Amino acid sequence: MTATLELTRPFDAHLHLRDGAALDATVPASARDFAGALVMPNLAPPITTVAEALAYRERVLARVPAGADFTPRFALYLTDRTAPDEVRRVADCEHVLAFKLYPAGATTNSEHGVTDLAGRHAVLAEMERQGVPLCVHGEETAPEVDVFDRERVFLERTLAPLVERFAGLRVVFEHVTTREAAQYVEGARAGVAASLTPQHLLMSRNDLFVGGLRPHHYCLPVLKREEHRRELVRVATGGDPRFFLGSDSAPHARGRKESACGCAGCYSAPAALALYAQAFEAAEALPRLEAFAALHGPAFYGLAPSAARVTLVRERWRVPERLDFTADDAIVPYWAGAELAWRVA
Ligand code: NCD
Ligand code: ZN
Repeated sequence: MTATLELTRPFDAHLHLRDGAALDATVPASARDFAGALVMPNLAPPITTVAEALAYRERVLARVPAGADFTPRFALYLTDRTAPDEVRRVADCEHVLAFKLYPAGATTNSEHGVTDLAGRHAVLAEMERQGVPLCVHGEETAPEVDVFDRERVFLERTLAPLVERFAGLRVVFEHVTTREAAQYVEGARAGVAASLTPQHLLMSRNDLFVGGLRPHHYCLPVLKREEHRRELVRVATGGDPRFFLGSDSAPHARGRKESACGCAGCYSAPAALALYAQAFEAAEALPRLEAFAALHGPAFYGLAPSAARVTLVRERWRVPERLDFTADDAIVPYWAGAELAWRVA
């Protein structure tokens, strides 16, 4: 059996770093193994302009450890008030790559999200013209829709019509979790892609309840049935450039997760690459990990792949039960206390 695996340093196309003191933990965790990332804008208040993203970038860069090779890029939060001018500013800024669509109420800090996509047509048309991608949190928010059906219903009601109406718009269906989403992207027109998280490749909804309620397995979109997980593994490991790594590492302090109303999000960054290696090895697809993790995402965003390399060694290790996070609380990483077969050297 292979004992080491050398890859181009990967790119995380969907990452939450948060702000303030949390950056002391989150930035080094990603900078250790990743060459870069697309950092999500759902702060409170959200990052809605290039000017805000550039100020946030300074706060992130201040936490990149000396000597680390990590280039953060940013997405702007699309709101009901985003103007076409802001799209042109994004097109002119190398540090900002995309807009993120959060349907209002879909997930953490999404209350500023879009309430009516029909009212955003001028902005979407400008994104199409400028080649600025739209990253989509694809979940229907109508309360009568079952939580396990939200992605599929969003695809039917909103995403597929959007992709058809704006035939040149570049779209990333973020953190896909269902067979329907995976197969839709596989067969979609050029310019449509999807990111995949480690938890949706490694776990099914049963893992929310093994031995009791497991808040650290809870994220949005929520884990789905095993048959969906298998389909996600198939598309992730199949070599198709439309599918790429986007960890959706979404840190919340321990007390916010282990709570009567726990936050959604898995803090996967400290073990992200090893988690993906675990999923790819289980599918006998380790040789395809590099393209998924380090080539397809940059290619979609028009970035050069990293010139640096990272080495994984086959060595069992246990993800820590707890890590430092803020002054008041620790954080429990995804996969805490469990073993992984590969470790980043
Ligand atoms: C994310 C977060 O906490 O910011 N949570 C999650 O469960 N994925 C938001 C998101 O990407 O939906
Ligand atoms: Zn996310």
